[in-house]
Amino acid sequence: MSYQRVIIPRHGHAEVLQLVEEAELPFPNPDQVRLRVLAVGAAYTDVLIREGMYPGIPKPPFSPGYEVVGEVDQLGESVTGFALGQRVVALTVTGGYSEYLCVAADELVPLPDGVDANEAACLVLQYVTAYQLIHRVAKLQPGQRVLIHGAGGGVGTALLEIGQILGLEMYGTASTAKHDLVRRLGGTPIDYQREDFVERVHALTASGTGNGKKSGVDAVFDGIGGGHLRPSYNALAPGGRLVCYGFSAAMQSRQRQLAFAATFGLMMALKLWPDGKQVSFYSITGLKQAHPDWFKQDLALLLDWLGAGQIRPVIAQRLPLRQAVTAHQLLDRGAVAGQLVLVCTGEGE
Ligand SMILES: NC(=O)c1ccc[n+]([C@@H]2O[C@H](COP(=O)([O-])OP(=O)(O)OC[C@H]3O[C@@H](n4cnc5c(N)ncnc54)[C@H](OP(=O)(O)O)[C@@H]3O)[C@@H](O)[C@H]2O)c1
Repeated sequence: MSYQRVIIPRHGHAEVLQLVEEAELPFPNPDQVRLRVLAVGAAYTDVLIREGMYPGIPKPPFSPGYEVVGEVDQLGESVTGFALGQRVVALTVTGGYSEYLCVAADELVPLPDGVDANEAACLVLQYVTAYQLIHRVAKLQPGQRVLIHGAGGGVGTALLEIGQILGLEMYGTASTAKHDLVRRLGGTPIDYQREDFVERVHALTASGTGNGKKSGVDAVFDGIGGGHLRPSYNALAPGGRLVCYGFSAAMQSRQRQLAFAATFGLMMALKLWPDGKQVSFYSITGLKQAHPDWFKQDLALLLDWLGAGQIRPVIAQRLPLRQAVTAHQLLDRGAVAGQLVLVCTGEGE
């Protein structure tokens, strides 16, 4: 039986993505499960992968697709614990832009009954990232203050939703078109294109000072990287923590690899600065490798929250798999308010 998938034939702009027809379904290894993919998240990380700016990815041609929801379609001969037709989610990193895909069984997390497949697809990369930034890295407590960059994007909206549950005081940089969304999710928007976000953060947090408390935030989550880390650091209150988790600034640079490396150089310099502020880097795959149990626990908790209606991912658009180019053009322009999902079930047509 034939099936379709989207491939990156060579690194480059959104238009390099190609829909191809494969003649035969992939056959699972003994420890794998073949999934019929229902939905796959399309996120800025896929753009970095498409452009060849993400470490450890295969050489083209390959399919992108970091987070998938699928139905078990065939079991490898040594797989137990899963049933045909069962719905599952997985962090695949690559490969998900495909109607069928083989995944190691020990990478799968069951999807609870009644949970929407499209919403679940947003949880695996973006919500786990947001949850781990808040709970595993910054370890924020109710009432603490946080500055979220790109607050109207995929990770940003997930951070706001989870931060609201935890009772954080949240500030979010975003272009004006996304300010209502940031407010709706409990954040105070800051227009980074027209105002100095460091001054704005200190002005907005100055009223709660006194008793030795200084203006600034307890944590900044920065997915932009590069020179942006310096003002982010300056927005911190004494003892605060800057967490860098992305490099989107490098994409605007002519010397991308250099800009990529500069993020780590600046992080190291800020880390060594002796003023009591903390600096760390977060990578979902890095933390998953170090603590595989955390990834599954955190994802299972988020799926439960989704099932109980405590979180509701902001899905800007559901597009059919064959419109992957459109999805990437929107991501390239920063035009997505919330998340994008590619659907493989005829929905989103
Ligand atoms: N380390 C990890 O494990 C991990 C996991 C997931 C994602 N990431 C990274 O996290 C970053 C965000 O991913 P995403 O999927 O959330 O992207 P996204 O949905 O495209 O959202 C990012 C948003 O940031 C805004 N933005 C652009 N430049 C900005 C600036 N200078 N200041 C403030 N906001 C700005 C854009 O919206 P407006 O300009 O319209 O406001 C854009 O929509 C990416 O770098 C991604 O690779 C890392």
